[in-house]
Amino acid sequence: MVTAEESVAQAAHATGRPGDPCIMVICGASGDLTKRKLIPALYNLATENLLSKSFALVGMARSQMTSEEFRNKISEEIGQFATGAIDEDMWHWLARRIYYVPGGFDDPQSYGRLKELLEKLNIEHGTRNNYFFYLATAPTFFATIVRQLGEAGLVNEEKGWRRVIIEKPFGRDYETARKLNQDIREVLSEKQIYRIDHYLGKETVQNILVFRFSNGIFEPIWNRRYIDHVQITVSETVGVETRGGYYESSGTLRDMVPNHIFQLISLTAMEPPVSFEADVVRDEQAKILKAIQPMVPEDVLVRTVRGQYGDGMEDGNRVPAYRSESNVSPTSNTETFVAMKLYIENWRWADVPFYLRTGKRLPKRVTEIAIQFKRAPFLLFRQTPVDKLTPNRLVLHLQPDEGISLSFGAKVPGPVVRIGGVNMSFNYKDYFNATPQTGYERLLYDCMCGDATLFQRSDMVETAWQIVGPILDVWGALPARNFPNYAGGTWGPKESEDLLRRDNRHWSPSA
Ligand code: BG6
Repeated sequence: MVTAEESVAQAAHATGRPGDPCIMVICGASGDLTKRKLIPALYNLATENLLSKSFALVGMARSQMTSEEFRNKISEEIGQFATGAIDEDMWHWLARRIYYVPGGFDDPQSYGRLKELLEKLNIEHGTRNNYFFYLATAPTFFATIVRQLGEAGLVNEEKGWRRVIIEKPFGRDYETARKLNQDIREVLSEKQIYRIDHYLGKETVQNILVFRFSNGIFEPIWNRRYIDHVQITVSETVGVETRGGYYESSGTLRDMVPNHIFQLISLTAMEPPVSFEADVVRDEQAKILKAIQPMVPEDVLVRTVRGQYGDGMEDGNRVPAYRSESNVSPTSNTETFVAMKLYIENWRWADVPFYLRTGKRLPKRVTEIAIQFKRAPFLLFRQTPVDKLTPNRLVLHLQPDEGISLSFGAKVPGPVVRIGGVNMSFNYKDYFNATPQTGYERLLYDCMCGDATLFQRSDMVETAWQIVGPILDVWGALPARNFPNYAGGTWGPKESEDLLRRDNRHWSPSA
């Protein structure tokens, strides 16, 4: 059943109409996310006419500032963080709608002041009592803010809609995620909660669904009969930068796997949904997560690899080991690299390994999904050495060089039959003249239209933590004794290669 709200959201996407009149409140507005992503994204939406003319923005944080000071600060920063040139008139239009209220997140009086300001702005800007709150704070505040919003009567939907966007990390394991879900569900209904994962804001990630389900030729071979295995690589060249403190309590597994990488797995592996309604799509994604069997401890030992970078090189410069980064313990056992092999136990995917790897200080920044098809029977080419026969590999290049490529074997010209591997590739930039975006535009717009398709549902978040839980447990019980075990600027520890070599496979050469 399509709800009235969903059909309005679908119509918005089809027609490209502006989001609903509303006020956006950013809790934690003095942080990096606001200036780097959220404000530039709102500006981009405004230039594309996707922001309602009846829109206002309120920043809330502990720093003492007036609205004027906040507006000036943001106006200075936008030049640096905008994704393109700034049109002065457009910026002034947006800047005039920006306000600020100082306040502690656990102080009820702050919410009293916020409420007063919202009521005033609602009249001035004609925002029809629609508010959404973006929690861009430390995760320890998520439940507190939601409770305070509830107590202040700010999420009551009697007169307009009220929604809350919650940033990651959503919990640090299954128990904490479940508790957070329980706490916020005491105040909000599930349809008011938008758990954000910025990977779903990426065009190329959204394109996985379009590629699979709008083309008739791939779906029939998208299964265990034709696919040998799948590899997902999310590699970064940067180290932990200024986030040592956060990283020490998180590590790569928590930071990347149950969220970003599981999004990629579920979109790659899900069954075709019968429609693009939020819950229909998310039901299919959730089924994939539920079909990934959590590992028993023995599996963790053989099917997972963890690493931590030592000294190394990045772009020709010497870079320090993780243990020498600021706010990192010199004896830290936190992982900065993870590789693992997972199985999705359903009819489509049984016995097809999904290998994934992600880490910091690797040689190249790349996010890609490589689908490796089974080899041809080769009857015709018995004389060709097996390693010269190129297996067909379809690679979805998600960033930074967005595109799709397919490799296959072709006859090398000449009198002797020799086979060479060739590549057919599509690059986004050759076909679409898209203006650069922050990746948050679509997600903010969807929230303003009431479309939660690209946001996490509570069951998805909890199931994801259930899958990584046994790995966290085993790694916690058996601290790594060989850290650091890879030099900065290399592809992680040797065990990561071994993980595939044991199965007679290799990591995708395109990464
Ligand atoms: C964030 C992680 O969620 O995603 C970071 O906390 C990581 O550690 C980042 O660097 C990667 O995002 P992107 O968009 O650069 O691939």
